[in-house]
Amino acid sequence: MAADVRAGLTRPFKELSPRYFYDERGSQLFEDITRLPEYYPTRCEREILQNGSAEICEAANSPATLIELGSGSAQKTRVLLDAMLDACCLETYCPVDISEEITRETAEHVAAEYDGVTVRGLVCDFELDLERIPVAAPRVIALLGGTIGNFEPQQRASFLRRISNLLGPEDRFLLGTDLVKDRQKLEAAYNDSQGVTAEFNKNVLSVLNRELGADFDPDSFEHVARWDDKNLWVDIRLRSLTDQVVNVALLDMLVPFAAGEEMRTEISTKFVRAGLEGIYAEAGLELTDWWTDTSGLYALSLARASD
Ligand code: TRP
Repeated sequence: MAADVRAGLTRPFKELSPRYFYDERGSQLFEDITRLPEYYPTRCEREILQNGSAEICEAANSPATLIELGSGSAQKTRVLLDAMLDACCLETYCPVDISEEITRETAEHVAAEYDGVTVRGLVCDFELDLERIPVAAPRVIALLGGTIGNFEPQQRASFLRRISNLLGPEDRFLLGTDLVKDRQKLEAAYNDSQGVTAEFNKNVLSVLNRELGADFDPDSFEHVARWDDKNLWVDIRLRSLTDQVVNVALLDMLVPFAAGEEMRTEISTKFVRAGLEGIYAEAGLELTDWWTDTSGLYALSLARASD
């Protein structure tokens, strides 16, 4: 974390990795975001899962193992778990998340609710530790919630390549992707009227204060979210309201911010089907199935290794 934050804060265009959003409070705030009227992705994804879980389960070869990357509270996953139980295929559920509190809680709840299912939670950064996941085939590795959109193009390419290398012939990758749509709807989803998203974005500064002994004043930054129609992503930033110098004690670093200066905290890429197929192809993956919600705002797709 120290090396990563140092690198991000010393660049001319400052940047923080989104992985630091998700401490206990950040994970809770994100759960709150998923219930906001403006934040449609979670509801759309749930709709697809509710209508299509049986079909998804069958298309994924009735998997024995469900590995969910970035599982969070696994609310929607239960729909998929139910379909897999109906198909009598599910043996092991493996929630993987970067927040220990939420992974522990999710693993305990699922284990209590789903008799006979082995639950093995994994606390890790799924970018680093993908190889520690369970092996019983057929497996489905799921990355829901549009999280793939938070990866930079390079990082996304190497992540998908590693997924493709992990997949046996029967295994499938289940991916949730938010789709390109009009600016207004996209920007509203990241700029809610109650300010929950702003709180969530600024929480990363409190994480740095706690973990790295920094003295960020969250009130002297404002939340910014803009649709970038060239890169097809929502660009999420924190803008300094004043000229200020932040002390990051554990990094032995003074970080100057000019009034109006923006620091990127996340991108949220949106996709179209053809674009995703191209991205898959470059990573050695092939799209086999595609489902959208009734409004066509969001998609779930299945892919297999193609080489
Ligand atoms: N994975 C979520 C998304 O891209 C994360 C998210 C939602 C988010 N709202 C946010 C990240 C606001 C930063 C700021 O949709």
